[in-house]
Amino acid sequence: MSTLLSTQGLVARYGDFQALFGLDLQVAAGEVVALIGANGAGKSTLLRSLCGLLPVAPGMVRLDGQDVGGQAPHEMVRRGVALVPEGRRLFAGMTVEDNLRVAIDQARKLRVRAHGEAWTLERLHALFPALASKARVPVESLSGGQQQMVAIGRALLLQPRLLLCDELSLGLAPLVIREIYAALPGIAAAGTAIVVVEQDVALAQRASQRLYCLLEGRITLQGASAAIPREAIAQAYFGTTDHGAHHAMA
Ligand SMILES: Nc1ncnc2c1ncn2[C@@H]1O[C@H](COP(=O)(O)OP(=O)(O)OP(=O)(O)O)[C@@H](O)[C@H]1O
Ligand SMILES: [Mg+2]
Repeated sequence: MSTLLSTQGLVARYGDFQALFGLDLQVAAGEVVALIGANGAGKSTLLRSLCGLLPVAPGMVRLDGQDVGGQAPHEMVRRGVALVPEGRRLFAGMTVEDNLRVAIDQARKLRVRAHGEAWTLERLHALFPALASKARVPVESLSGGQQQMVAIGRALLLQPRLLLCDELSLGLAPLVIREIYAALPGIAAAGTAIVVVEQDVALAQRASQRLYCLLEGRITLQGASAAIPREAIAQAYFGTTDHGAHHAMA
């Protein structure tokens, strides 16, 4: 498969604090890539760097072979990169449909072009049937899982080629986590590559074709998800000096 996104020596800083140290990673068109790592490893920072929310230098990020390092967030949206942010960040006080219409309007304003079949409200309802009857309901009255579906839907309505998902499962019940993750293969098969940050390592491994593990701003492991032994993940996740690693993974 062809490379959709790549980073070359990606570095990110918050003021004097360096959070990412020269990351090289690739995402192929239509694949699901998982990003794992302990709290503070730099997962959210990486996603923010990929969608323009954190400034990166020219040459550090390529989309379809084009240098997009340093592009503003709206420009990254226009080029097909959408983020489902940590904590969902929906617009409280607005209905589900109005939340989604914000994305439709934004896509129109930015003249985003769909690649393949466009995402519409109808198509979202087919993807997440639980949302179909909730269009007129204030978004804060939905369950956490349904809110996460709205957050994913809002990103999909930006017609992304690359969907960046930060902690989709956080705080949700197992059943709805399964429902949400069940939607990912279909999204990817329809032509949208997905990078998913996931705390649940086993879930990350199951849900992805490839995975990267971050530790303190560096990639400590990468490979085909199904082929990586659990011990290798444990070591990459906690670092080699942490003797509690294997217990913590059990
Ligand atoms: N706005 C910020 N200002 C300063 N430092 C930050 C900021 N955001 C994150 N950091 C630091 O950057 C590092 C990476 O944080 P990041 O949020 O990317 O980690 P993460 O892997 O997403 O962690 P978590 O699993 O807790 O979400 C951490 O050391 C964090 O303290
Ligand atoms: Mg995070």
